[in-house]
Amino acid sequence: MRISRALLALLAAARGCDSFTAVLTRPSSSSSSREGRSRGATTTTTTALSSTSREGRIRRATTTTTTTTTTALSSTAEEVGSGGTAVVGTPGTADLPWSELGFEYRDTKSHLRMVYRDGRWEEPTLVESPYMQVHIGATALHYGQACFEGLKAFSHADGDVYLFRPDENGMRINRSANRVMMPEIPVDMFVRACNDVVRDNIAYVPPYGSGGALYLRPLLFGSGPRIGLQPSEEYTFLIMVIPVGDYYKGGLAKPVNGLIIDEYDRAAPRGVGSAKVAGNYAADLIPNVQAKKMGYPICLYLDAATHTKVEEFSTSNFIGIDNTNKRYVTPSSPSVLPSVTNKSLQTIARDRGMTVEARDILVEELDTFDEVIACGTAVVVTPIGSLTRLNDPAKGVGGDSSTMYRFTEDVGVTTRALYDQVRSIQNGEIEDVHNWNFKVQ
Ligand code: COI
Repeated sequence: MRISRALLALLAAARGCDSFTAVLTRPSSSSSSREGRSRGATTTTTTALSSTSREGRIRRATTTTTTTTTTALSSTAEEVGSGGTAVVGTPGTADLPWSELGFEYRDTKSHLRMVYRDGRWEEPTLVESPYMQVHIGATALHYGQACFEGLKAFSHADGDVYLFRPDENGMRINRSANRVMMPEIPVDMFVRACNDVVRDNIAYVPPYGSGGALYLRPLLFGSGPRIGLQPSEEYTFLIMVIPVGDYYKGGLAKPVNGLIIDEYDRAAPRGVGSAKVAGNYAADLIPNVQAKKMGYPICLYLDAATHTKVEEFSTSNFIGIDNTNKRYVTPSSPSVLPSVTNKSLQTIARDRGMTVEARDILVEELDTFDEVIACGTAVVVTPIGSLTRLNDPAKGVGGDSSTMYRFTEDVGVTTRALYDQVRSIQNGEIEDVHNWNFKVQ
């Protein structure tokens, strides 16, 4: 996807700050919903079905009414500070156990929602209810026409909040959308939506020093009915936000043991593996749950065609580190998701004088790595302690057919250095030399 010069200017300005504030706060003469923050109520009436079990029949019973509060997006004059900068609010004021957050759903103040109808995106709104009505014929439900993203916002020591590389997620969601015939979201619109939902949920951004972040989960899906196999005519985009801590218990401190999966594949060579579509993650559920039961919190998938090459983990990309030769090795496969974290770590590794190799990695080559890392937005930089292949074809039948590849028992030096550097940039503790942080305003 190409980004226009105007968009690049907008994104660059957002990194600095002033022009983006103007985009968000300058009143428009044409649309009243853009000018003022209006609260409205949409009332939805549903008829619940209940059954009288003794009689064994179903009858219509209660009528429940749910009220959804929506907020049209924009900033009012009162919300703009005297210097012309929008007043964002203080992160970390919600009543939450900030240092104990894991990676699980929590209610927050609102999510952002935007509908594509009649060939165009309508104005986004902030919705307080975490429930939504979806048409029973929605293509997302039947044919998996859905994709999502994951990115984070971080508090800095001065109380400002920054999104990490939201433009990259904006570009990636459009690549995913294209793959399953959904409309693109202009990247500036995506970045602004991320900004606005974080701003509305500023109390839920974990405070500086807690180690947590506000995780943004943008989701785009076919919400219109289609029963023949065709793309939808209506789409819904939403961004939910959740304060999170470590994905794997213990975080960086505790290397995770992984299982190499031979019974299942995540993605086919010309399939949808490089798109962040919902079904790729459903494909991982059985192996994921089985592996966890066996004591392996993470699964590593191989290439579906030959089962000889490393592809990616259930949740994240694969990196192998060879400290002797200062090499950072990561698979280059058309069925691997291009991770924004991996891309950032590659830049950091090059800055540190390492050689980055994006290429095929044979399973046997795992023996040559000193450290192995799982990396992604949710898992950040997770050290892998070992990888086990239960039925290693190299061992043939009979006897013990398993192979265990062991890496560092504690966190490796390079893993720690990469982690520290990317987290310090995200926390605003070292200079953001690559301009990755976007100030929320
Ligand atoms: C992310 O890292 O943001 C993801 O979407 C991965 C998911 C399995 C949590």
